[in-house]
Formats: sequence, structure tokens, C-alpha cells
Amino acid sequence: MSAIQKLAGKFIVIEGLEGAGKSTAIQYIQDWLALQGVIEQNIELTREPGGTTLAEKMREIVKMDVADEQLDDKAELLIMYAARVQLVEHKIKPALAADKVVIGDRHNWSSLAYQGGGRGIDLQLINDIKQVALGDFKADFTLFLDIEPELGLSRARGRGELDRIERLAIDFFNRSRAVFQQLTEQEKNAVCIDASQGFDQVKESIHRQLDIWLASL
Ligand SMILES: Nc1ncnc2c1ncn2[C@@H]1O[C@H](COP(=O)(O)OP(=O)(O)OP(=O)(O)O)[C@@H](O)[C@H]1O
Ligand SMILES: [Mg+2]
Repeated sequence: MSAIQKLAGKFIVIEGLEGAGKSTAIQYIQDWLALQGVIEQNIELTREPGGTTLAEKMREIVKMDVADEQLDDKAELLIMYAARVQLVEHKIKPALAADKVVIGDRHNWSSLAYQGGGRGIDLQLINDIKQVALGDFKADFTLFLDIEPELGLSRARGRGELDRIERLAIDFFNRSRAVFQQLTEQEKNAVCIDASQGFDQVKESIHRQLDIWLASL
């Protein structure tokens, strides 16, 4: 089977803390797909939360600063899953069914890391909600960009003001990071990339890991 055939209908996800370099890495993945002969029209990019008209509205809600009302942790979790259902059902699944390669800027692990590790919601409860919302749907390959929260935030800060999520304590991100690391160790089709490296090294690592994954298909 050719690389193009192997990659058709595959969902590749990039996970990591704020400023880890996810958006940058997506360009590297696109470059790699081009090297494999996958044409641009056969690549679909998504970001979470968001990625559809309604899911983007939900993203606005979780990013909103409201003076007289705090977003409850469980409400935040459910909005994340509501947005994810919209994205999976209306964008990701149709694209995969059309044999496109989908690249996800964050997916399910972000809920386990942020709402679970960060906010302290029981991981089993989140897994149960995931099961109700999405069933067994999951990424075919996950690249976790691992970075010290301080370094990631300083990169993100270079872009301007931090939003509500980004201002949360470093501790929050350390707990989130620990969950990402744990998930990566447990999942066969996932790898950890040292995201503190320079642009070229990160790109090289990503391409190498994608090569290994492709060879395993
Ligand atoms: N390997 C790297 N070395 C140094 N700077 C980097 C590296 N990768 C990305 N950056 C820079 O860090 C900033 C954040 O990168 P990027 O937007 O890709 O991260 P992100 O994970 O998508 O962040 P967010 O979670 O906020 O979407 C950008 O200014 C980017 O140019
Ligand atoms: Mg980004």
C-alpha cells in the first residue's frame, strides 16, 4: 500500500500546553504530508475547542471573562465536550470518511489534562463523559509536545495579553502536563516530543516520529 493510501482517513492530533508550539507543529505535519504526496485538498485542519460555527461560539464562552459569574468547572468540562461532539460529528468524521487526513490542534487529552489534572475533576468521570459523547472515537496518532509551563507561557506571552485560561497558576499547568505525560506513556499510538528544542529540532523530531508511525501502518 502507498503512503497516500495508508494515510487516507487518519486523524493525527497534536497536544500540549499553551505556547508549546502546536500551531507551529501543524505546519511541520503539513510539510511531512506533502512529502508523502498528500495534496492540500486532502488535509483538514481543526482546532479545539472550536472548529465549527457552533463550537467556536462555545470556545468564546469558555474564554470569556464575566465579572459577576464564574464558569463552573463542570460546566466548562461539559462545554468542552459539547464543542467536541459538534466538531467530531460535523467536521472530523465526514472528512475522514472522505479519506482526508485530519490534523487536530488539541483533542480529548486536553480535557483530561486541563479539566482533570488542572481543575482536579476525576479522570474516570471525564472518561465516562467522553464515552457518552464520543464513544470509542479517538486519534490514530497523537504527538504530545512536552514543555515546561514557564517556557510555554513565555512563548505565548510574546504574542500579547494572556487570556483567562493562560493566566491560571503554573501549578495548574504542571498538573496538566503530568496527565499529558501519563497518557502518552499509556497510549501505543502516541509519542512525546521535547518541545523546548529549537524550531528545526522539533520539526526533525516530528518528521522522524511520523516516519516511524507510517512504517507501522
Ligand atoms: N521550537 C520553538 N522554539 C522557539 N519558539 C517557538 C518554537 N515553536 C514555536 N515557537 C514560538 O512560540 C510561540 C507559540 O507557538 P505556537 O503558537 O505554535 O504554540 P501553541 O502551542 O499553538 O500555542 P497556543 O496553545 O497558545 O495555541 C510562537 O511565537 C512561536 O513562533
Ligand atoms: Mg496554537
